[in-house]
Amino acid sequence: MSAELSTQGLVLTATGLSAGYDRRAIVSAIDVQASPGKVVSIVGPNGSGKSTLLKSLVGVVRVLDGHVTVGDVDTTNMASEEIAKIGIGYVPQVEDVFPPLSVKENLEIGGYLLARREIPDRIEAVLEFFPRLKGMMTRKAGKLSGGERKMLAMGRVLMLSPSVLVLDEPTANLAPMVATQLLEEYIRGFADHGSTVLLVEQRAKAALRISDWTYVLGGGRIVLSGAPRDLEQNPAFVESFLGGGAAPPPSSD
Ligand SMILES: Nc1ncnc2c1ncn2[C@@H]1O[C@H](COP(=O)(O)OP(=O)(O)OP(=O)(O)O)[C@@H](O)[C@H]1O
Ligand SMILES: [Mg+2]
Repeated sequence: MSAELSTQGLVLTATGLSAGYDRRAIVSAIDVQASPGKVVSIVGPNGSGKSTLLKSLVGVVRVLDGHVTVGDVDTTNMASEEIAKIGIGYVPQVEDVFPPLSVKENLEIGGYLLARREIPDRIEAVLEFFPRLKGMMTRKAGKLSGGERKMLAMGRVLMLSPSVLVLDEPTANLAPMVATQLLEEYIRGFADHGSTVLLVEQRAKAALRISDWTYVLGGGRIVLSGAPRDLEQNPAFVESFLGGGAAPPPSSD
């Protein structure tokens, strides 16, 4: 990865956090931490509050209780633009690019906090990391494949050289091989480069493979957490997330 693509990570911490909509908490009593050089993942069933939790960390959903800190700054309920300025790059689960705009325009918008003259060099750095986007600069984002679109969504966020990357289900709807490349090459690569990565992922097995630590969210609370090798030994985790008990009995004929 080019040296200037992302910035040395910061510690992102949520302590006793509750967050939700219209003052109703969807996630409660959340303690999570992500650190430089690490991939920390959050897995959990549909509707367990994974996206709500991430949104509350990046200023999109209101924190009702508790605190979020980035480095030594308390970012609780700061405006999302202020949080972006501190160095948090957030790739949402949906609406991650502007479909009617070209790849180039999407990247330029990603650089909205930069001086105009800085933008071409940043685009170069992003294209070096995602060379596949090079030949597509004039193509509308809405015409990209799922994998290309996710690269653009991440590239858009990398325009600001973030210290912390917050990714909400980046591999949803991607073919397995594309998902694996995105996770193992690019997302693990951000962390190996010194950035902090906080990842929500449906593919629990694939997430564990690239994670240093994993939290399990259930019904809006952290119900389990651990290093992947420990979770892989945990019968309840295996049963729920790695398909342990889900396999049908072998057929008798
Ligand atoms: N804007 C909103 N207003 C009110 N309730 C919402 C809103 N967005 C989500 N919810 C509710 O919050 C709960 C958690 O949703 P959330 O999207 O955070 O879950 P998730 O774990 O990300 O699910 P998925 O795996 O499907 O992405 C759900 O019951 C959902 O209906
Ligand atoms: Mg979600």
